[in-house]
Amino acid sequence: MLEFGDDEARRLDRSYATSDVVGQRAQTLDMLCLQRGERVLDIGSGPGHLLAAMAEAVGPAGAVHGMDPSEAMNALARERCASMPWATVGTGDALALPFGDAAFDVAVSTQVYEYVPDMPAAVAELRRVLRPGGRALVLDTDWDSLVWNVADRALHDRIIDAWEEHLADSRLPRRLGGLLRRGGFDVTEQRVVPIFNPRLHADTFSVTIKETIAAFVPGRRGVTADDTAAWLADLQARAAEDEYFFSLNRYAFLATVRG
Ligand SMILES: C[S@@+](CC[C@H](N)C(=O)[O-])C[C@H]1O[C@@H](n2cnc3c(N)ncnc32)[C@H](O)[C@@H]1O
Repeated sequence: MLEFGDDEARRLDRSYATSDVVGQRAQTLDMLCLQRGERVLDIGSGPGHLLAAMAEAVGPAGAVHGMDPSEAMNALARERCASMPWATVGTGDALALPFGDAAFDVAVSTQVYEYVPDMPAAVAELRRVLRPGGRALVLDTDWDSLVWNVADRALHDRIIDAWEEHLADSRLPRRLGGLLRRGGFDVTEQRVVPIFNPRLHADTFSVTIKETIAAFVPGRRGVTADDTAAWLADLQARAAEDEYFFSLNRYAFLATVRG
């Protein structure tokens, strides 16, 4: 699976500042409708962009806790929230949340459960830490939704097959509704959150994800460094010929703890 060390943390930090991911966070916050004073947990808070936005939304009367197993990510999240002492960041895993029962009004986990092998156990933990009537928001990517223009489709398919090894489930969203309902939640809202880059430029998600993919795939499923370079060159050529096209869907589920 993908290691979230210093290099990947920095790359992700850049990616999350692009308009695409800023737009995704706006949708997440819109669905959450956070209230002043609420207690919020961010499971797998990464570089802390959403954590900081949620801390602003609940204000100093509230509390926001970010939690991630990667120390490189936690360092970025602490820095981002440094001016808001009601936001804290600690080490932890989605399968063993280091909090008591019913400790939170709200819990979010965006782009994290796709890395978690035992989803029924993760949903049980999510429910345990929420108060009765508390709400959860889960957002993940379905890589079957990927549309990326290339000239060499066979090579592209090999690269993406190797890339899918970075996740426990690269098609998790289609299972999320059922997992939440079986885990004791009522799903109240579901949205598709598309990322669409009809052009390649610095302020796009696909600029950084292609770097992340290129760093991950060599040596997996027979993909070589030369294959990876050829794939990157193919994408650059599509852009140079004004044929660039990238589209990928994320899916967000808002759910309430069933009474
Ligand atoms: C793609 S990043 C998403 C970060 C953040 N949630 C966001 O959307 O901005 C995935 C994060 O999940 C974390 N992660 C991976 N496995 C995890 C687990 N079992 N429990 C909690 N976090 C995990 C990684 O360390 C990484 O920070």
